[in-house]
Amino acid sequence: MGTNDQNINTEIISDEVNKRRNFAIISHPDAGKTTLTEKLLLYGGAIQQAGAVKARGNQRKATSDWMELEKQRGISITSTVLQFEYEESVINLLDTPGHQDFSEDTYRTLAAADNAVMLEDAAKGLEPQTRKLFEVCKMRKIPIFTFINKMDRPGREPLTLLDEIESELGLATIPINWPIGSGDQFRGVIDRLTKEVILFDKAARGKQSYEKRIKLDEQNLSNYLEENLLNNALEELEVLDEAGASFDKEKIYCGELTPVFFGSAMTNFGVRPFLDKFLNLAKKPSSRNSNNGNIEPTFNEFSGFVFKLQANMDPKHRDRVAFIRVCSGRFEKDMSVKHSRTGKVIRLSRPQKIFGKDREVVDDAYPGDVIGLNNPGMFSIGDTLYTGNHIEYEGIPCFSPEIFSWLRNPNPSAFKNFRKGVNELREEGAVQILYDIDESKRDPILAAVGQLQLEVVKHRLKNEYGVDSILESMPYQIARWVSEGWSSVDELGRVFNCKIVKDCWNRPVILFKNEWNLNQFLEDQPKLNLNKVAPVVSGVEPIDL
Ligand code: G4P
Repeated sequence: MGTNDQNINTEIISDEVNKRRNFAIISHPDAGKTTLTEKLLLYGGAIQQAGAVKARGNQRKATSDWMELEKQRGISITSTVLQFEYEESVINLLDTPGHQDFSEDTYRTLAAADNAVMLEDAAKGLEPQTRKLFEVCKMRKIPIFTFINKMDRPGREPLTLLDEIESELGLATIPINWPIGSGDQFRGVIDRLTKEVILFDKAARGKQSYEKRIKLDEQNLSNYLEENLLNNALEELEVLDEAGASFDKEKIYCGELTPVFFGSAMTNFGVRPFLDKFLNLAKKPSSRNSNNGNIEPTFNEFSGFVFKLQANMDPKHRDRVAFIRVCSGRFEKDMSVKHSRTGKVIRLSRPQKIFGKDREVVDDAYPGDVIGLNNPGMFSIGDTLYTGNHIEYEGIPCFSPEIFSWLRNPNPSAFKNFRKGVNELREEGAVQILYDIDESKRDPILAAVGQLQLEVVKHRLKNEYGVDSILESMPYQIARWVSEGWSSVDELGRVFNCKIVKDCWNRPVILFKNEWNLNQFLEDQPKLNLNKVAPVVSGVEPIDL
């Protein structure tokens, strides 16, 4: 490529990067993620009628191969990526499974996200799943935008909700707008930056809302809303002006300060003002750390990494899809890329963008986008693909599982297939596998974030490998990796109320029954460093069953 062509290419990439914003929603089930997603898509014109997200979910249930399990439970396990355009921006929403029994996929998806939207139910405040997902965002230092939802219903005091975020998550808050009234007296919000009142009209279901903006100092404001509601909101704002954090874009960028918005996804109050500000403040795709230093998104060579594998999205094709987050350069259909782990060259001939069950072949993609590649068993979570000089992105760490179960093989004659299934499902990242340190105990331990993850493994062993298996749950809830390695574990001697096992990288892991046992252990062993998250291992082959 001549220098001139290269410059033009860089310019195109840079324009595309500037347009892109990528985020994932972190929330607890029922907070309104599906509803908010529908409304966001509605503004983007990606779907005409809000409600389509659920309809899509139903179709997916009908065609996905885990359909049995999904149908039996009436839930959707898979997560997808939604891309839509809004004004000048291209937005990638990395969707995460909504079910309570969520899995590690949700954590991994956050590894591919540049921003997170933390969605809270105004009546419930912080809930367990949101707290867990927040921890991952905090680790990655990504910007977090808070949307307090369901303001049309009686909820907790806005100041109390902010206090909770500050004190329990250690995250400073900066309300970008402030609610006027709540429940059936919710009238709208005050935009703190423009000093305007934004009044909402209830939108018909599936329609965009209409917002009326009036300057706060306008004389006839009381013609539009009750004075006592406005005064109350203004008084609370005074408290915030005096005692609250001040606006600091750098702090927002590194996830230390969260801009807060109030609204109601269902009645479409405040979704558009949120989207506008979010696009303005959110981080665009930025550089990523690799073995070769930080790689800028505008770098002329293509690179990306696998953050999720999905088997059998469509049983008709019996396929596996690898989801790649594009990090730099321009991805083009039919391009040949290198696979950093094996050094092989692969031609990517059928790249797809996946929107629910619909797939569309993509011609090109840019940093911040996600593409789905048919995966003939070659990709693992964390793998880097690139053109040009060799690079390898930092992989995706292991997150602490919370559910542990022996996986018994009831038919010794089927051991070969059992082993193949367990090893392949581990490689795919469907579950973590731990091993007893007593080598005579050969059954693997499945370690997962949610019960459903275990059932999916059992179901897939049966359906794809033709083997039966028995799950036998273990009484542990917490796993911690010992950073000092085996020598320090050997010095421990006999330990109580916990179990020492090894992960597939032969690292010591201690399983605890509860928080109390963990704390007790830490008091007894002050020198030991226990970690919730284990770093990625490279250059070593994992232990197979
Ligand atoms: P999730 O994906 O986070 O699990 O939540 P989802 O959007 O499915 O919303 C959960 C329930 O909360 C739904 O009610 C939804 O309508 C309701 N909801 C979402 N946003 C708001 C809001 O701003 N205000 C109010 N009042 N309710 C909201 P459902 O009865 O379970 O379902 P549906 O029959 O309404 O679809």
